[in-house]
Amino acid sequence: MADTEPTAQQPQASGQPAAVPLPTERSCPFSPADGYRVLREQGVARLAFPSGPLGWVVTRHADAKALLTDTRFSARQEGLVPPVPSELHYAAPAEPGAFAKTDDPQHSHYRKLLTGFFTVRRVREMLPLIERVTREQLDRLAEAGPGADLVEHFAEPLPARVMGEFLGIPEADLEPLQRHVNALGNITSTIPEAITAITGLGEFLGSFVPPLIETPDEGPVGDLVRTGKVDDKELMNLVSTMINGGLDTTGNMLAQGVFALLQHPDQLALLREGPELMDGAVEELLRYLTISHLGASRWALEDTEFGGRQVKQGEVVVVALGAANRDPERFADADRLDLTRADHSHLAFGHGSHQCLGQHLARATLSVAWRGLLDRFPDLQLAVPAEQITMRENYVHYGPLALPVSWTREVR
Ligand code: HEM
Repeated sequence: MADTEPTAQQPQASGQPAAVPLPTERSCPFSPADGYRVLREQGVARLAFPSGPLGWVVTRHADAKALLTDTRFSARQEGLVPPVPSELHYAAPAEPGAFAKTDDPQHSHYRKLLTGFFTVRRVREMLPLIERVTREQLDRLAEAGPGADLVEHFAEPLPARVMGEFLGIPEADLEPLQRHVNALGNITSTIPEAITAITGLGEFLGSFVPPLIETPDEGPVGDLVRTGKVDDKELMNLVSTMINGGLDTTGNMLAQGVFALLQHPDQLALLREGPELMDGAVEELLRYLTISHLGASRWALEDTEFGGRQVKQGEVVVVALGAANRDPERFADADRLDLTRADHSHLAFGHGSHQCLGQHLARATLSVAWRGLLDRFPDLQLAVPAEQITMRENYVHYGPLALPVSWTREVR
């Protein structure tokens, strides 16, 4: 793919910039793809989608916010195309309840049913659960011993178990669920692999949800049943939305944050010495690392003008969240990880009506988990050279595939 990466291309005679594929090549595992620098200079840039059509990519912070709040652009699944080579293209409208890929009025109708579960107050009530699961996963990491993979023993299972206990999912079901969610988040999955994952998820939901419709529990699924506002299909898709959100995101950010801290010892030392920096550190790491590295996509509902470009009806616009979060127009010294940075106006959770539903849960989980890890292992370090860490290039959410770590001291 390297030879098709963007270069400093001149606008074409038409005044439109030349189309390039979405940049993916990185020289640093903590920074967005290198090609975004050139694209940011162009403003709204022309994008060539692998399946053929042309679209646009937005890399500036101000443009990203404007686009994500612009109702001339739709999040509906049927108009979206993968911005990178992938067999996984869902050309049909999202199913009832799967609101992330819909517009209003469906979007707000379903989203409102879940917002109450993920407020700051509800997440505060979940802290004892997050703290207990963190302690248990730290024990499992410690049992695995120096050299253990932090992703396998800590980062991946921790948020999955939190979401699992919150929803009442038995722990034994989480590992297969995680496999299915991973397969669906892998853009290089084949169609048969995706079908296996969708079938597996469907079988789980088919066994988990109906008994709760029959006898609602005291948790969120029971609450949803008691609203009387959702049928079986909608309920399954709402539960599936929460499972996907819980199992495919925070774990990657957790591991990627540890990797970044270990590679920025000055910042790690600041955080070890100043626990009060944690809330700001969470925001800065979210900005700096922006794990939703393929961005957020929307498509034009009508022929329209955006950012000085003529966007045609149906054209897809990718909002490169990672590039926007490094926009020097918005963030001073944008490419520097600075845990004391006061500007937290990053777009790592998106922006506008589709802004991440689980953001308060993610923040709380990251904060508790990073604090717990740093306290338990005061001299945590990588167990292999950083160059040997393989990254999740092929996944919707970026982070290390595995992160072997070691330590000589443990504080219980
Ligand atoms: C560090 C962790 C996370 C990151 C970086 C992240 C990132 C994002 C981003 C960028 C979006 C917006 C996508 C768009 O506009 O197209 C989003 C939406 C969403 N996220 Fe998260 N997320 C995280 C954790 C979670 C968690 C823990 C949940 C659990 C409930 C969750 C559930 C959702 C849902 C349901 C949406 C769709 C919201 C809507 O369309 O209204 N996310 N997330």
